[in-house]
Amino acid sequence: MENKTDWLDYDVEEMVAGDKNALWHHLKPHKCFETQEQMIIVEGKGLMIKDIRGREYLDATSGGVWSVMVGFGRDSIAEAVCDQLKKMPYFAGVFGNIPSIKFAKKLLEKLPNHDKVYFSNSGSEANEKAFKIVRQASHIDPARKGKYKIMYRDRDYHGTTIGAMSATGQAQRKEGFGPFVEGFVEFDHCACYRCPYDKTYGNCDIECARKVEDVILKEGADTIGGMIVEPITAGGGILLPVKEYYPILQALCRKYDIWMIMDEVVCGFGRTGKFWGHEHYEVDPEIITMAKGLASSYGALSATVVKQKVYDAFLNDPTDPETRLNYFRDISTYGGCTAALTAALESTRIIEDENLLDNSVQVGAYLNEKLATLKKYDVVGDVRGLGLFAGIEFVTDKATKEPISEGQMAQLMGNVMAENVIVGRTNSSFHGLNNIMNFAPCLTITKEQVDIVVAAVATAIEKTFK
Ligand SMILES: Cc1ncc(COP(=O)(O)O)c(C=O)c1O
Repeated sequence: MENKTDWLDYDVEEMVAGDKNALWHHLKPHKCFETQEQMIIVEGKGLMIKDIRGREYLDATSGGVWSVMVGFGRDSIAEAVCDQLKKMPYFAGVFGNIPSIKFAKKLLEKLPNHDKVYFSNSGSEANEKAFKIVRQASHIDPARKGKYKIMYRDRDYHGTTIGAMSATGQAQRKEGFGPFVEGFVEFDHCACYRCPYDKTYGNCDIECARKVEDVILKEGADTIGGMIVEPITAGGGILLPVKEYYPILQALCRKYDIWMIMDEVVCGFGRTGKFWGHEHYEVDPEIITMAKGLASSYGALSATVVKQKVYDAFLNDPTDPETRLNYFRDISTYGGCTAALTAALESTRIIEDENLLDNSVQVGAYLNEKLATLKKYDVVGDVRGLGLFAGIEFVTDKATKEPISEGQMAQLMGNVMAENVIVGRTNSSFHGLNNIMNFAPCLTITKEQVDIVVAAVATAIEKTFK
């Protein structure tokens, strides 16, 4: 290698062929690798990305899965990570390092009711840690003996590992991966647009939350130790619980001594206009998990944050042969490695210094307002969102709410992309309900960029359903 930048050089056709020959892409039917050239992204600045053929797109998905909160091309993050890597790239999390101490402190400032931070690599892993905490506590804490089961909500997603999938309420996504882990129990979703109890908000007594008690009692409250929920269901279709929902769920958790696990993997770090998604509600979960926006995807990082009482369940006496193994016996090689934590520190500084929460509120309101104008189209059944997070549900008939077909949805997505805009969608998650387009742009998005996104969607709707 002649100089340190040689490895950044490439030949376009060689890369395209290399992609086809060697890569197994995420979440795509494999047959398409044989015939279609996959998009290869080579550069990004702000919300704009460029592919290997030189075509530019406005990305309204923060990197495809809602994680690049501060936008692409942040030199200050790259420089901070570079400096840290030169100083100390890695040592296992059994010892401390400076970025992890600083970032844990920063997280706890943002979560004043919580006390300890456990770092890992991905959202799935952060949730697995939460499940392991609940399960181990059911063995070692006399007050929680036998409380090993974890409840989860229909339509929520908690990750790709078998444990996290066992806790995921997306039937189609789970297909083909069973059998799942024993001890995970589903309860109903809380999507008003398709109320599981056929009720209307205002006249429903929040039955979707109250009925959870039936599930607890059916399973046996003395067997349930945890309940995981997304503050706002993300990949399941941007589903916002009503304000009364979480206080009811929390009262049930407190009544039956169930630790609530709030999965902030998507909603955290300003996505919904508050730093945490659950801040929109009166709720105080025992465990909070987070990933994606943590380091704005400039590094792989996740965290499981707990209240003191959870941590205290693991304060064993190491000299007592009976309880000597009762500490949280878990490790993750890259959990808390210095590069990702440095990226997280700098990304969080940017969110604070550039008032990106404010932008999420202001421009988020504008995004939702603009998207609502699309309700004029017959195929737009529902538009919902909060902050810089929104979804459109497409239907063939507003009265029956019959979803559009998968083929139409694919065509619609292609037509948005033809306008050089990238948006997201529910993807092979539910039988017959993969009809929701989603928007989660970087927190730096401007009103002008929102206009471009909404115009692209309008054009695509007109083209697809002419
Ligand atoms: C709410 C939620 N939790 C957990 C995960 C899993 O995170 P990861 O893909 O980093 O494992 C995701 C991923 O999309 C998610 O949306």
